[in-house]
Amino acid sequence: PSAGFHDARGRELRDLRISITDRCNFRCVYCMPKEIFGSDYQFMEREQLLSFDEITRLATAAVSLGVDKLRITGGEPLLRRGVEDLIARLAELRTPEGKRPDLALTTNGSALRVKAEALKAAGLDRVTVSVDSLDDTRFQAINDVRFPVSRVLDGLAAAEAVGLGPIKINAVVKRGVNDDEIVPLAEYFRERGWTLRFIEYMDVGASNGWVLEDVVPSAEIVARISAVHPLEPAAPSRTGETAKRWRYRDGSGEIGVISSVTGAFCGSCTRARISAEGKLYTCLFASEGFDLRALVRGGASDAEIRTALAEIWGVRDDRYSEQRAALGARPARSRIEMSYIGG
Ligand code: GTP
Ligand code: 5AD
Ligand code: SF4
Ligand code: SF4
Repeated sequence: PSAGFHDARGRELRDLRISITDRCNFRCVYCMPKEIFGSDYQFMEREQLLSFDEITRLATAAVSLGVDKLRITGGEPLLRRGVEDLIARLAELRTPEGKRPDLALTTNGSALRVKAEALKAAGLDRVTVSVDSLDDTRFQAINDVRFPVSRVLDGLAAAEAVGLGPIKINAVVKRGVNDDEIVPLAEYFRERGWTLRFIEYMDVGASNGWVLEDVVPSAEIVARISAVHPLEPAAPSRTGETAKRWRYRDGSGEIGVISSVTGAFCGSCTRARISAEGKLYTCLFASEGFDLRALVRGGASDAEIRTALAEIWGVRDDRYSEQRAALGARPARSRIEMSYIGG
């Protein structure tokens, strides 16, 4: 029951994911493989990036249209200088009903130990941190820059200590790479009271060589955990949520599974994404974005920005994950990279 804005399939615009840099200090093999993201890779120049003023203007317009959930992503968002200043500005936004939008940041955790306090002070609500393995050798092989898992875990402890919770953990599961860690990961994060979400490995971008055989279906993940620690389904905490929640029957916490391959959730997808250079994408798997930066730098008024957002959303018809099975994966060349759009 809201005056929200609906797309061509009746889905409201509720969430905005804002990428603030295309750079990352990791080279996760499934996201930024070194053969493609090598030392000669052309990342965006500073003047190509939306400034904090520009981001704030766009976010303000989106919030005025009904967005009440903001996610800061990258690349690795904590690499952007002054990120806490941007957080402070976004934390001041209010929905038309006068509520603070939910404001969180998705990070690889490498800089969290250093940044947690400033992020909290700036008004960030919580963080989501990616941890695909607890085995240090394997973790270093996945990030491919020899970053030790212990430093990410230190970052998590720092986030917890300053109150950047409830903390969520993302783990991408790839068959033969880390599927043997499903239960150990679940146990480790349950003990700490952090919600672990397993993400089915997706065919995003053009550089990760995705094949269906690499995907471990969520049903299998749930079954493997439940065999050791019985699980039962839990109600969604918000409509349009990516993760299906499962709680431990003994009351010791919950996990989530994000099944964009075996259980597409496009029907309730309320997410828009803005790339670091200011392109608006209405789907994670889109090939074309709308150039909001041109609009902003061309002197558009706040009302004109709002109208543009509303018009783009109004004709939105995307549902890639639902169509994947029927159409087969789209020619990879035309898809944007995960590191470009931030998940
Ligand atoms: P909350 O869980 O609401 O706090 O937000 P979050 O940003 O921490 O997590 P979210 O559930 O929004 O996203 C978690 C991960 O799910 C992302 O990093 C992506 O890998 C994946 N994901 C998110 N949105 C989509 C989507 O619209 N489509 C698909 N296919 N995958 C998505
Ligand atoms: N499939 C699923 N998840 C992915 N991520 C990055 N690439 C993929 C992929 N191909 C995850 C990251 C992070 C989140 C933003 O998206 O590990 O947790
Ligand atoms: Fe890894 Fe995330 Fe960086 Fe991609 S953006 S390389 S998934 S840490
Ligand atoms: Fe939304 Fe596109 Fe993901 Fe479907 S595939 S849930 S439409 S972002």
